Amino acid sequence: METSIRRQFYQRFGKEAFLVAAPGRVNLIGEHTDYNQGYVLPAAIDKKIYIGISKNDKPVLRVFAAQYQQELSFSLDQLAPVEGWPTYLLGMIYYLQKDRGAFEGLDVYIDGNIPIGAGMSSSAAICTGFGLAMNELFNLGFTRMQLALAAQKTEHNFAGLMCGIMDQFAVLHGKSGHVIKLDCRNMDYEYIPFHFPDYRVVLVNSMVSHSLAGSEYNVRRAQCEEGISILQKYYPDIQSLRDVTGKQLELHKNILPEIVYRRCHFIVHENERLLQGCDFLSKDNLGEFGKLMFETQEGLSKWYEVSCPESDFLSEEAKTYPGVMGARQMGGGFGGCTINIVREDVIEDFAEFIQKKYTKKFNKVPEIYITQIEDGAHVVR
Ligand code: GLA
Repeated sequence: METSIRRQFYQRFGKEAFLVAAPGRVNLIGEHTDYNQGYVLPAAIDKKIYIGISKNDKPVLRVFAAQYQQELSFSLDQLAPVEGWPTYLLGMIYYLQKDRGAFEGLDVYIDGNIPIGAGMSSSAAICTGFGLAMNELFNLGFTRMQLALAAQKTEHNFAGLMCGIMDQFAVLHGKSGHVIKLDCRNMDYEYIPFHFPDYRVVLVNSMVSHSLAGSEYNVRRAQCEEGISILQKYYPDIQSLRDVTGKQLELHKNILPEIVYRRCHFIVHENERLLQGCDFLSKDNLGEFGKLMFETQEGLSKWYEVSCPESDFLSEEAKTYPGVMGARQMGGGFGGCTINIVREDVIEDFAEFIQKKYTKKFNKVPEIYITQIEDGAHVVR
């Protein structure tokens, strides 16, 4: 793919590309905990977006996206949100220029194999990959953390999704063979080896494309904030749901609106599951870790209500299959992929099993991705 992108770039723009690769991410456990200042456990994978760029001498962004077969141009004089994927590029230019002053126009070519809307965070890959490319090309001197924050602001203000920091952080900080235990309160992180040679992380794509912006995702975030503001009256020291214990929550169950209680319940226990899960991983206990993943699915479905019949079905069926340790919906919600930990010797049979069952029920064939944990975004020399 790298060679073909260079060639395509040359054919289209008549010059050499500076090339960056940015991966998609998985998250083993810890969903919706990032914007509640809790922990997450993501990793970068071997699905990638490639971004070829080069300077042009006009104040213009010219961009071709192979996945959409679309070329568009934007003036850099007035950077504002637009509909669709180009908004990510405009947002990144906006935030990098805001700190470093205006820079030249750019020709950009984007291609890749991260499925869009599948919960693998293709948008974080575009933002951070493009940010890294500009950072290198113009020598801007941003740290990876600063690029992650610019990408998060782009999601918030150019795409309307009030996301946490997990995706942007994971894409930029991934490390081969490791998951990242990230504390989203202070950005402390630790690499935990994910060394289970007989098991693989397998994604099953429900083919239900989740659309999150401005919708239920932001509603969940607001409900969590409402919960905190009520609980703070009783516990002035708490800053986020990460500080709340299950016991405290139960004590005040009756003063919280029921729906807010349910949302808080999921977050408080999801954060606990993550901490327990890390403990199991450190003891090489994938069996117990997998059980927590099934519990998360139940929470996503019944308490946080961000699942859908397709994701529930995929997780329930996977649970019955010997050699599948854990399975649950991954990412923001309402479809996308389930993440499954599957014993290597049964992967093929499992794939056939789940595809058959799912197709029969939903009349759609789920794609299966057997992933590898790799390094985060990088320049391709
Ligand atoms: C999306 C967001 C993340 C995170 C997950 C849910 O991927 O971008 O910040 O909240 O959903 O865990």
